[in-house]
Amino acid sequence: MNQKTEDLMPFRSFRLALRFVLPLALVLALFAYAVVPLVDDMTLRWFVRDLDSRSQMLASALQEPLLDYVPQKSQRKISQLFDRSVQDGRLFALAFCDPGGKLLYKTVTYPVSLGCPAPQAKGGMRQSLVNLPQGSSVHVTESPLSQGSNYLGKLILVHDMSYIERRSEETRKYVITLFALLAVVISLITVFVAHLSWRGWISAVKGILRRDSVTRSHSNTPPEIRPLVGDLRALLHEFNVERRVKDSSPQLWTPEKLRSLLHDELAGDEVLVVSNREPYIHTRTPNGVEVKRPASGLVTAVEPVMRACSGTWIAHGGGSGDRDTVDRNDRVPVPPSNPSYTLRRVWLTNEEEQGYYYGFSNEGLWPLCHIAHVRPVFRSSDWEQYVAVNQRFADAVVSEARTDDPVVLVQDYHFALLPRMVREKLPKATIIMFWHIPWPNPESFGICPWREEILEGLLGSTLLGFHTPFHCKNFIETVDRYLETRIEHEASTISYGGDLTQVEPYPISIAWPDMAEQPSVAESRSAVRQELGLPANQLLALGVDRLDYTKGIMERLQAVERMLELYPALIGRFTLVQIAAPSRSSLDEYQNLESRVRMLAQRINKRFSSESYAPILLKIEQHGADQVNRLYRATDVCLVTSLHDGMNLVAKEFIAARDDERGVLVLSQFTGAARELHEALIVNPYHIEQSADALYRALTMPEAEQRDRIRSMRSLVKDFNVYRWAGRMLLDAARLRRRERITEKIHSHSRRSLRRVV
Ligand code: G6P
Repeated sequence: MNQKTEDLMPFRSFRLALRFVLPLALVLALFAYAVVPLVDDMTLRWFVRDLDSRSQMLASALQEPLLDYVPQKSQRKISQLFDRSVQDGRLFALAFCDPGGKLLYKTVTYPVSLGCPAPQAKGGMRQSLVNLPQGSSVHVTESPLSQGSNYLGKLILVHDMSYIERRSEETRKYVITLFALLAVVISLITVFVAHLSWRGWISAVKGILRRDSVTRSHSNTPPEIRPLVGDLRALLHEFNVERRVKDSSPQLWTPEKLRSLLHDELAGDEVLVVSNREPYIHTRTPNGVEVKRPASGLVTAVEPVMRACSGTWIAHGGGSGDRDTVDRNDRVPVPPSNPSYTLRRVWLTNEEEQGYYYGFSNEGLWPLCHIAHVRPVFRSSDWEQYVAVNQRFADAVVSEARTDDPVVLVQDYHFALLPRMVREKLPKATIIMFWHIPWPNPESFGICPWREEILEGLLGSTLLGFHTPFHCKNFIETVDRYLETRIEHEASTISYGGDLTQVEPYPISIAWPDMAEQPSVAESRSAVRQELGLPANQLLALGVDRLDYTKGIMERLQAVERMLELYPALIGRFTLVQIAAPSRSSLDEYQNLESRVRMLAQRINKRFSSESYAPILLKIEQHGADQVNRLYRATDVCLVTSLHDGMNLVAKEFIAARDDERGVLVLSQFTGAARELHEALIVNPYHIEQSADALYRALTMPEAEQRDRIRSMRSLVKDFNVYRWAGRMLLDAARLRRRERITEKIHSHSRRSLRRVV
């Protein structure tokens, strides 16, 4: 607890206590207010009863002498008797009346106003309280005096009541003081108890917060706090995630910062990346070997990170010219223009590629993880290849590793088994697995015949990353459903077979581009329109995707058709440029998609085209990054209508390319990007009318609104760039690595001590 908290504690306890004491004081005051008159009345009754019996006793004591003196009419003796009697301070006066009601004898103190009370109907003692004219009240006892049947008169005893009032007053004071004291004592006890409980709570909470996620015993936690422990830890975890997100001064995430992080936090440890798709593909052409960049969000994101890390990237050498460019260890320095890291190629036979890549990865896992209503296909032969190829890549990792504890960054669904395979050979390695596609709910994932093996493989990772918290949640629930593990939901860790895997969201991003060298937006606009044979003021929308059924290309074309139906004024004035990079084209599903997209584009074009106009320009071909970038800068609207997408980096690339702060992004709600880019026009791509409306709204959006929206998204994408994505994962990995090293030290120390004892 820091000093400030300590200082504030008594104050807090006091405040806490006040909240209790004030109502208590109020209740006590009300109570006293109601009780005092009651007590008054009661004491008065006690005293009157007391006076009644005293008077009775006195009257009977005076009976005897009076029976002698009254018949003798002995004025002197009676006066003496009376005067002696009234010496008792409380007996105020005495008098004697004859049977006719005449006052015969009295002490000087006897109030004249009392006179002789009227004779009674029935003889017997009578007692009453009488108010005197001067304000005081007296207690009067009339006691008849008889000798045999001869009634002689009555003796009147007058007692002073003022002392009763004095006593009543005292009692009232006493009661009030008692209540006040009671209030003070209860308050003090409350303050004290509140103070103690506060301290107890604080130290228990402190204990919970301090306790590391590994030691989670509840033994020292007060029972009343136990139900809160989970919530508190979850909150702390969320806070930590938030803090890590905010603290790391996003603006500062640059390649240099990433490099220095590797140096400082990971002591320059070697970094190995594993992915199926390679970042540079060498292709044989009639003009010699050419190098190309693949259309892959994964490559777009990881490549700049690798440039900063200078490690080794292990990937499938799938290009026709790949073997021509590697050394005898299958390595090639890349990027070709300015090498900064090593690409290690792994060769696959046709059979392997067929089963592992096309089969299990892209006909099985890909549709399994995306909700795009394409049925996954699982074949045992594909699975066997998947296992074998994962093993081959794991072996490549082990052979590339120069140390026994490298940092291995495994990419995507092609390598679900690899983390455990590497862990078996390099138990000290820090393995970060990033799953670039969505993770489905447990029911959907349960379709996979090898679900347990996949999960076990992934749980060989130290850190397992997804794009969104929702995918993490789905994964944890899937593990919970199908494996016997220990899951700490608050800490987001899964313990399986002695290994601990941290599951975290890391939304991927892009490297913020330097636009200084690029042609201006105005130049790009007119150049692109000219190249496409469009008028200079043509309204342009752009789609850039791999030709994949998850991208919602069919739905996008339908939305264009609907918009032209609804707003015919745009016919001739509007064009959609759809870039569709061919992908996995040997698979039936992709071939079908290609022909369906072509046919739909043709049909729509036929419907709305004139001699020189077609609303859809479909380009099913690979495009270089520069070409795409020019299109981003030339377009009015960028359409991203994926039916399901882990993140979708096209959305972020478009935002980053628009340094003129113009252009509108229409974005599917089913992309990870929609969770970050709130200022886009968010659509449900299945709802064609909605997308058509959004497209129209985007094309007619005032410039000021365009600027406001894109400015906010640009600042987000700039800050939350890919260096930050990688940096946060590596920082977390470094933290876990340190923890593992400490745990290892503790274990070996205790093993040594045990041996010594034995
Ligand atoms: C997605 C996957 C990547 C993959 C890319 C291109 O983005 O997450 O792992 O590289 O698609 O697919 P391809 O099969 O051509 O590599």
